[in-house]
Amino acid sequence: MKILITGGAGYIGSTIASVLEDNGHTPILLDSLVTGRREFVRDRIFYEADIADRAMVRRVFSDHPDIFATIHCAALIVVPESVTRPYEYYKENVVKSMEFFRLLSELGYNRVVFSSSAALYDVVPGFMVTEESPLRPNSPYSRTKYMMEMILSDFCSAYNLKGIALRYFNPIGADPKMRTGLHIQFPTHLIGKLVEVALGREPVFYLTGVDWPTRDGSGIRDYLHVWDLARAHLNAVERFDSVIEAEASVGTPYSVINLGTGKGVTVKEFIAAFEKVYGQKIPVSIRPARPGDVAGAFANADKAARLLGWKAELSIEQGIADALRWGQVRDRVIHY
Ligand code: UFG
Repeated sequence: MKILITGGAGYIGSTIASVLEDNGHTPILLDSLVTGRREFVRDRIFYEADIADRAMVRRVFSDHPDIFATIHCAALIVVPESVTRPYEYYKENVVKSMEFFRLLSELGYNRVVFSSSAALYDVVPGFMVTEESPLRPNSPYSRTKYMMEMILSDFCSAYNLKGIALRYFNPIGADPKMRTGLHIQFPTHLIGKLVEVALGREPVFYLTGVDWPTRDGSGIRDYLHVWDLARAHLNAVERFDSVIEAEASVGTPYSVINLGTGKGVTVKEFIAAFEKVYGQKIPVSIRPARPGDVAGAFANADKAARLLGWKAELSIEQGIADALRWGQVRDRVIHY
């Protein structure tokens, strides 16, 4: 099947493209390359354009009228940047996505898989969240994802769209075949920082926050291998109609699904796993929590198992090993 992936030159979009290709499908990539990488597009069918470029989106569908579904990954994703540049975030992630969905509906390409985020959730006792858990997006970035979920749901009930919103927890690792991986040159997130220290690009790892009400005081998250995350999209498109059918009782052809391992891991536990894979100690220095940080959450992933027939299979150690390998090859794949 042909599947359109917006943001197909990004970290997650390009991994989804590899999973689809490896399973006999044809990804069609649309990416503005504002943050995506040309190196990830390689010999794939690729349109260099913004999702708001109506003429180009029309051309994509007229060139490939047999596109079965659209996976909409394109977005700005940096939380602190969203605090200082909210206009750009609401414009790129909300305004443009809304117009894009409108155009998909006009053109009659009505199957949409949307990249949402676990950043939407409020902190709950025990830290495990189901799709019904309370939401409290606490940054402009996460509010854009929240708004887009609502817009997609409303469009699905009013127009001819059908939507599956996938709430991603924390992806780690890279394509196990090292075709793609995280392309941010100076990462700020946990695995990115640990790799920087391991590869000698930074002298020390700062553990931000040790006073959370978790089992060891450090933040808790659900780290899943990006390959597993990408595989969930394969299942989402292959089972699209049955997922929507399963939600028929709700009345709207729209479904929200958590994508996580179902296991909470603290930062201290993650560092221990990292050191085991890396084979050496990482110098760690304690710092206060980052502005806007939260204790965290991990997924109840039962709905993904039930509706997508998917569960995470790769271990955290595999994710760490692949992130380390990618850290070593990255500068040969990407030409900054
Ligand atoms: N952490 C450190 N030191 C660092 C970086 C992170 O101790 O140098 C800690 C954080 O305090 C937190 C945990 O590691 O407790 C995870 O932090 P990340 O930045 O890796 O992940 P977050 O869950 O905080 O945020 C990420 C993305 C967001 C996204 C969110 C939910 O950065 O863009 O996941 O999907 F919104």
